[in-house]
Formats: sequence, C-alpha cells, structure tokens
Amino acid sequence: MKSLEAFLDTILILLIFVYQPFCLSLVLDSITPNNTVKDGDVLLSGQKTFALGFFSPGKSRYRYVGIWYYKDPEKTAVWVANRDDPINETSGVLAIDSKGRLIIYAKDQNSPIWSANVSVPSEKSSSSFIAKLLDVGNLVLIKQDNSTVIWQSFDYPTNTYLPFMKLGLNRKSGLNRFISSWKSADDPGTGNCTYRIDSTGYPQMFAYKNRVPFWRAGSWTGQRWSGVPTMTNGFLDNTSYVNNQDEISVMYGISTDSNSVFSRFVIEESETVRQFTWQDQGHVLKLGMSQEECS
Ligand SMILES: *[C@@H]1O[C@H](CO)[C@@H](O)[C@H](O)[C@H]1NC(C)=O
Ligand SMILES: *[C@@H]1O[C@H](CO)[C@@H](O)[C@H](O)[C@H]1NC(C)=O
Ligand SMILES: *[C@@H]1O[C@H](CO)[C@@H](O)[C@H](O)[C@H]1NC(C)=O
Ligand SMILES: *[C@@H]1O[C@H](CO)[C@@H](O)[C@H](O)[C@H]1NC(C)=O
Ligand SMILES: *[C@@H]1O[C@H](CO)[C@@H](O)[C@H](O)[C@H]1NC(C)=O
Repeated sequence: MKSLEAFLDTILILLIFVYQPFCLSLVLDSITPNNTVKDGDVLLSGQKTFALGFFSPGKSRYRYVGIWYYKDPEKTAVWVANRDDPINETSGVLAIDSKGRLIIYAKDQNSPIWSANVSVPSEKSSSSFIAKLLDVGNLVLIKQDNSTVIWQSFDYPTNTYLPFMKLGLNRKSGLNRFISSWKSADDPGTGNCTYRIDSTGYPQMFAYKNRVPFWRAGSWTGQRWSGVPTMTNGFLDNTSYVNNQDEISVMYGISTDSNSVFSRFVIEESETVRQFTWQDQGHVLKLGMSQEECS
C-alpha cells in the first residue's frame, strides 16, 4: 500500500513537472503575428524599465492591458489600453492580427474587444509588423519594411503624462493628446477630468472637469507654467515647447539623475494634478499642482 502511494505521488509529481511548461507565463521582448501577450505574460522594455501585461486595478475583478514600472510591485499603471473595454475573465490576448492591427481579444479572435486606432493597408501581410515597448514606456507598432512607427501609446495617453510624451495638438493630423482621469482607483475607464493645452488664443494649460476649467496652469514661460509658482525655474528637466503651424505641444525630458525617468504627472478624478516620482522602493509625491484650489 505504502509503495502504491509513493508510486502515485511520483506520477503526480511527474505530471506536474511535465505540464508545468504549458502553464508558465512568458517574458517577451516584442509582439509579432506569431508572438502574442496572453494574460499572465509580460512584455519588457529593453533595459527592463517598463513592463506591459494584463492586470486588475485596485479591487476590480476585470482585466486590462497596462504598462507599469518593471520594479513596481503594485503595478501602478501609467497607461491602459482597453480602459473603457474591460475583460471579465483571464482569457485575454494582446496580438497583431492578420491585417497588422494591434488588438485585444478574449475568446473570439475575430471580434476584438479593443484595437489600436490605426489604418493599415489591407493588402499588406501582417508578417511585416512588430510591436515593442520602449524604455520610456511607449508601446510602438512598427511597419518593418520601412521602419515606420504607425501607432504609439504615447499618442493616446490615459491619466499619466510621462517624460518624452508630447501633450498637445498636431495641427496637421488633428490628433490632440491630453490626459484624462480614471473613473476611480478601481476603474481606469475615461473619467471627467482632463488636463490639456487650450490652443485657442494664447496657449495655456488647463485642468477641466466636464469641460469646465477648474484650474489654470497658465502659459509656458520658457521654464515653467506661469500659474504654478511652486514649479520653480528648471523644475522640469529639458522641456521642449513647440508652437508653430504644424503643432502646439509640450514635452519634458529627464535629467542626469537616474530616477528622473520615473517622473509622472497624473490627473485624478478628485480634481487634482500631481507629480510623482520613484525613490528607493516606492512612489513619492513631488508636487501637488492643483490641490490648493480644490480642497
Ligand atoms: C463576460 O463578457 C462576455 C462578453 O463581453 C459576456 O458574454 C459574458 O456573459 C460575461 N461573463 C460574465 C461572467 O460576466
Ligand atoms: C511607410 O509605408 C507607409 C504605407 O505602407 C507609408 O504611409 C509611409 O509614408 C511609409 N514611410 C516611409 C518613411 O517611407
Ligand atoms: C484616430 O486617429 C485619428 C487621426 O489621427 C483621429 O483624428 C481620431 O480622433 C482618432 N480616434 C480615436 C478614437 O482616438
Ligand atoms: C462624470 O460626470 C457625470 C455628469 O456630471 C456624472 O454623472 C458621473 O457620475 C461622473 N463620473 C464620475 C466617475 O465621477
Ligand atoms: C538634461 O539637462 C541637464 C541639465 O539641466 C543635462 O545635464 C542633461 O544632459 C540633459 N539630459 C538630456 C537627456 O538631454
């Protein structure tokens, strides 16, 4: 009897051992038509600064595709793909479909839950497309035969403004980039607060709730936003502000301080715009920009 038990145990261990490879989640460095990101897998940026994968925010039971700092155990999302199209179980897959589109599907590959806003010539084979996560936290879809970025997550920000991300209007394509709050800590769906450049008249940065401005960051002085005195000259690293016939945009960069890549501005549903940074082991508030007015 003893030996039979031992025998069965051995079989069990063998079975677990044999089947384990099929359950292991994958770590990927790119998405191609043959390489998908399934729920549980992660896509890493080259230097492992950022990671992309499926996650459930807060107490949510829904699954979303998000990007977070690789070293952040909380997986605080700096971008969410399907923010308004949650998946209610764990069968989600992020893939490049046969037309070269970046899509998320659950059970049925032919009816995606989410797709990137890009029009790809339908006659082209999808074998020439690849998606990568860059070390600045930008997910890019590249047409490989001419190395063109045909879509990037930086053009569709959610509630977070990262270094090297441009906010503002591309006057040629009409694409307007701004950040918008989550509905709640448990729901990354598009909320009511936005933080954006108002390009009519002299360009100024405003935070709005339901189209009503509740806070004015003001105009760009060359060093900072005029309405944010706590943002002293040189507060933002290597900022580039462009206002010409092609675009009105503002982008901030990083300094030589290796932590400055972990800077992020977030607009919250509670009518606050705050800047966080990462120090030692966690998120640290650096600047609460619109708090005085709101509390
Ligand atoms: C999950 O969502 C699908 C379609 O989006 C729906 O058909 C299904 O009933 C949902 N399941 C649960 C458990 O809510
Ligand atoms: C790459 O190809 C696409 C169409 O397939 C075209 O729209 C785009 O302009 C091309 N880019 C370059 C740099 O040639
Ligand atoms: C898709 O892209 C076009 C062109 O850039 C833009 O005008 C449009 O608003 C975008 N649609 C969505 C849903 O973001
Ligand atoms: C957004 O505003 C609408 C209209 O005032 C309101 O019904 C809704 O609850 C608000 N959403 C959130 C997440 O607060
Ligand atoms: C950013 O600016 C600092 C000086 O403020 C400079 O030392 C640094 O090299 C710049 N970094 C980049 C990436 O341009």
